[in-house]
Amino acid sequence: MQNVLVTGGAGYIGSHACKALKAAGFTPVTYDSLVTGWEDSVKFGPFEKGDLMDRARLDEVFAKYQPVAVMHFAALSQVGESMKEPGLYWRQNVMGSLTLIEATVAAGVKHFVFSSTCATYGEQDNVVLDENSVQQPINAYGASKRAIEDILDNFGAAYGLEHVIFRYFNVAGADPEGEIGEHHRPETHLIPIMLEAIDGKRPALTIFGTDYDTPDGTCIRDYVHVCDLVDAHVLGLKWLQEGKGSSVFNLGTGSGFSVREVIDQSRAVTNLSVPYEEGPRRPGDCTKLVSGSSRAETELGWSPERSTMAQMIGDAWLWHREGHYDK
Ligand code: UFG
Repeated sequence: MQNVLVTGGAGYIGSHACKALKAAGFTPVTYDSLVTGWEDSVKFGPFEKGDLMDRARLDEVFAKYQPVAVMHFAALSQVGESMKEPGLYWRQNVMGSLTLIEATVAAGVKHFVFSSTCATYGEQDNVVLDENSVQQPINAYGASKRAIEDILDNFGAAYGLEHVIFRYFNVAGADPEGEIGEHHRPETHLIPIMLEAIDGKRPALTIFGTDYDTPDGTCIRDYVHVCDLVDAHVLGLKWLQEGKGSSVFNLGTGSGFSVREVIDQSRAVTNLSVPYEEGPRRPGDCTKLVSGSSRAETELGWSPERSTMAQMIGDAWLWHREGHYDK
């Protein structure tokens, strides 16, 4: 069995990646500080607690497991928070990733899969966002992820660290088998907040801004099912192992949903209405982020077949209904 070091493996996307890696015959070794992750989400391989900035601990874990590759998910990921506390994002995300990347190179590991974001593109009116689009982030979160992409390019050139960068659009849904799901504290993402409002765990969903330049005035996002997203990571790992070299892929479906459209769809899936109110814009939000690329499909052979809004809301609802949010 080949070990893969998964940073953030106790988090939402990382835990789904561990499940997908195990199903593909790898052993996922979770490295997670548990600051935002959950130890009971580590179900598919060994767990090592540690911080990204603890180089000695990282060296120890690399020596113990001799991983063939690293999948790096561990990060702070809230756009709003990054606008209020940018230093946190530069320190945790950029310095943490730099420490990990240096440890990866020192351990002689040549393959690195990185969780980046379409927030690196920023606000680009009427531009189709593909992998060659200019990256001009408008929030500190996106800026921190772009900086890590630059570090990877430099380390690729200097030390032969081959990397696949995935720029995610909006990740949603949960494991359809109900083993793992989304659980953030505090929760900031639209779909889980909406589900909490539906079943009374919070008074209402606030729509952040209704005066955007979109057909219904609310922001438009491209939502992708977390299980489809992590499947792409396994394909990215195989791509590196086949010697295809460093590359960048957007992970989105190319279909945009406004906040109001997501609310409408959830009514159809749950048969319950969403209590909501209209509020001001949230700083750092872009009007529209939709992928304009199918590179992951044509080159990696990815097919995001679970990424219908109905399935994403339905799988998140299944997880939510089982009470995992009550922890
Ligand atoms: N929204 C609301 N009310 C809420 C929460 C969200 O109206 O209570 C709106 C947001 O304004 C946005 C949309 O719903 O228009 C989606 O918001 P999320 O917070 O769910 O997701 P973001 O688009 O802000 O951010 C997510 C990830 C980032 C990633 C980004 C890329 O959290 O890591 O997608 O679009 F960079």
